[in-house]
Amino acid sequence: MSDKKFRLENVNTGTSSELPVHEGVLGPDVIDVGRLYREQGAFTFDPGFVATASCESEITFIDGEEGVLLYRGYPVEQLAKNSNFLEVCYLLLAGDLPTPEELVRFRHSILHHTMINETLLRFFNGFHYNAHPMAMVSGVVGSMSAFYHDSMNIEKPEHREIFAHRIIAKMPTISAAAYKHSIGQPFVYPRNDLDYCSNLLQMFFAVPCEEYEVDPIAAEALDLLFILHADHEQNCSTSTVRLAGSSGTNPYAAIAAGVSALWGPAHGGANEAVLKMLEKIGRPESIPKYVAKAKDRDDPFRLMGFGHRVYKNFDPRAKIIREMAHRVLEKIGHTDSPLFELALRLEEIARKDEYFIEKKLYPNVDFYSGIIYRALGIPNTMFTVMFAIARSVGWVAHWQEMIADPRRRIGRPRQLYTGPDRRDYVEIGDRT
Ligand code: CMC
Repeated sequence: MSDKKFRLENVNTGTSSELPVHEGVLGPDVIDVGRLYREQGAFTFDPGFVATASCESEITFIDGEEGVLLYRGYPVEQLAKNSNFLEVCYLLLAGDLPTPEELVRFRHSILHHTMINETLLRFFNGFHYNAHPMAMVSGVVGSMSAFYHDSMNIEKPEHREIFAHRIIAKMPTISAAAYKHSIGQPFVYPRNDLDYCSNLLQMFFAVPCEEYEVDPIAAEALDLLFILHADHEQNCSTSTVRLAGSSGTNPYAAIAAGVSALWGPAHGGANEAVLKMLEKIGRPESIPKYVAKAKDRDDPFRLMGFGHRVYKNFDPRAKIIREMAHRVLEKIGHTDSPLFELALRLEEIARKDEYFIEKKLYPNVDFYSGIIYRALGIPNTMFTVMFAIARSVGWVAHWQEMIADPRRRIGRPRQLYTGPDRRDYVEIGDRT
């Protein structure tokens, strides 16, 4: 803790509180309001957590004004250029880049936990073929709680580790099973001789009746998207995992809660919404009409893939994904070029518009990711599932950090009550 203090005057009572101030390694100071209720009998009020740090964390740092994103201190641009998803997973979980031996051990463990229990596989038959894949994934991830009774003691570091490896290893298998179920094809088992993303692609697209060859550009693009989606500090789904996990619930249940939170269109569901929006806009001539709708306060329409709670500058991930979209479309996805051209034009128009400039609304990570997924042959309804696979490592890293902290307490926010004042029960016959 620093020597800094924050003095809060209560003009109603004439009293004041000196609140401790914590200094992070990076980022703004944080005023500790923990004793405010005891001293002043008042809560703080910050719906949406606009100015509230919900926890202390060593994992990821974002400077939204400058468009900076660091995983364990490393700029995401450097990781995107030089690393790969499994190495980034290790970094997020362990805190440092692995040595060659550590990476070999980690890869081996992840690649040898890819299978799911056959019973779990049968769960998919309980879903209608047109169930949204996110519904299947959240249901099946939650159901994993029923399979690992011997390794779910959250107080034991070795149990936490095996859980982390299982989630990272099995998310692609579960997601591919959801996809295969939705299109009525037989499930394809994982192949541990392939790298993480190549294995995912073969589970999605291979069929038992013919050979499937993984396109290395597709695997590379997926790996890049997964690096960029791996963590994003205390976002909605990660905070959900932390809050659910703080009760001491089993970790699979906490991750299932995260999957559900990610599904919403204001969060991970935006990548699916962007493609729907672009299809609706249809042609460059219609862009001004939709930009006008987005600016109209009386119209609920928003430009999906634009704006961010933290970034008030270009989302650094969006820049990298835009470049990758160029490469992918050049190499494998010519048919989707018109949609990409439309997205580029929309970005250009919106970024020159006074409304978007003034509100600092820039393209976010989801604006271009769907275009790449689509070019790889992944359908719209699976986009958020892809995000969930990548973000699993972030959820797990944050869950582990929270559980391992000896100061851990259940997350329990307070409220500003605005309902009816105390009143007496009225017998049913006396009610008007
Ligand atoms: N289109 C038009 N106006 C917008 C947009 C948008 N996409 N985003 C924000 N605004 C306006 C909003 O109407 C508000 O205006 P005013 O000050 O006049 O009321 C102002 O900008 C601030 O917006 P906000 O909703 O108060 O900001 P927030 O921090 O609560 O919400 C957001 C952030 C990401 C939910 C929001 O920008 C949004 O809905 N964007 C579209 C959905 C999207 O792309 N989500 C993906 C986010 S990144 C990936 C992830 O988190 O998973």
